[in-house]
Amino acid sequence: MTIRSVVIGSGHYLPKRIVENAEFEGKIDTDDEWIRSRSGIERRHFVSEGETTSTMATAAARIALEEAGKTPADVDAIILATSTADLTFPSAATMVQAQLGMENGFAFDVQAVCAGFIFALSNANALIVSGQAKRVLVIGSETFSKIMDWTDRSTSVLFGDGAGALLLEAQEGTGTPADRGILSTDLNSDGRYRDLLYVDGGISTGTTGYLRMQGNQVFRHAVEKLAATATTAMERAGVTAEDVDWIVPHQANIRIIQGTAKKLNLPMEQVVVTVQDHGNTSAASIPLALSVGKQRGQIKQGDLVVTEAIGGGLAWGAVVLRW
Ligand code: ACO
Repeated sequence: MTIRSVVIGSGHYLPKRIVENAEFEGKIDTDDEWIRSRSGIERRHFVSEGETTSTMATAAARIALEEAGKTPADVDAIILATSTADLTFPSAATMVQAQLGMENGFAFDVQAVCAGFIFALSNANALIVSGQAKRVLVIGSETFSKIMDWTDRSTSVLFGDGAGALLLEAQEGTGTPADRGILSTDLNSDGRYRDLLYVDGGISTGTTGYLRMQGNQVFRHAVEKLAATATTAMERAGVTAEDVDWIVPHQANIRIIQGTAKKLNLPMEQVVVTVQDHGNTSAASIPLALSVGKQRGQIKQGDLVVTEAIGGGLAWGAVVLRW
């Protein structure tokens, strides 16, 4: 008997405040045309007073639970991928646990920056297939607007806030790629590249700090590493590009998304793209795209989905799952 981690609910939350590219014009030396052509981003959402990583995560989780017809009491664990937890500790995941009124189970954060949701999914799958949990809420939630240097045009125009959630459930499979659920995962990191993408604050400085990125250097690593990890995950799952229905990539830059799809031999018609409306929401971008893709009628039950992401660390990885 093979145990599979099957998606039984999905949901997302976006702050009401929408910031169009044009809003940056006049404040920093940039324009809508540069942002659109270099990144594909047209707008992003930013939190308002009272909205935090944990409140957005809770809102997304509630929708996923409702869709699955489950209550917080049915959940054994919450794994929250974030680099922008409300406080240094406790984990934002335990805050979500409390906000949901959940008194059972356990909750913890995973921090792998933009690859965080892939790492969280992989951890959730490990808990499920090892029998330690039957149902796991896997959430990505970020408030990158809180770590932007608004004077830095090379980063401040790229990021946004939001949250997405999946509810996974242990179900019996046959052990073949025809099963619903997570079929394979692939995780990687290489700490030698820390200077390409980091926040210049934290415990060691006593400040929150600002995101710093050598964007063109990250870009250079992105397409190659994303295509490689997606290929490894597909091989592990026993599937090929021809079997794939949807790629749901980390939404950092439309040019990275296009380059990776091309390398994987998949047309853009099979890629879920939300970067134009959300910007780069780091660990929230994949669950947001999965939930929006489902809402749009793109992702349907039984579809084979490949997700992949890269971010600070560098850390990168991929998950192959049948929806
Ligand atoms: N408006 C106008 N000009 C700008 C802006 C802006 N907002 N930002 C930078 N420029 C300028 C630069 O100063 C530079 O000018 P120069 O030639 O006079 O020096 C020029 O535009 C080109 O800059 P590049 O950085 O080479 O531009 P590039 O085409 O590489 O695009 C971008 C930049 C969009 C950041 C791209 O490199 C990218 O998307 N990189 C990857 C980001 C990513 O995937 N991050 C990973 C995940 S994020 C995470 O983990 C948190």
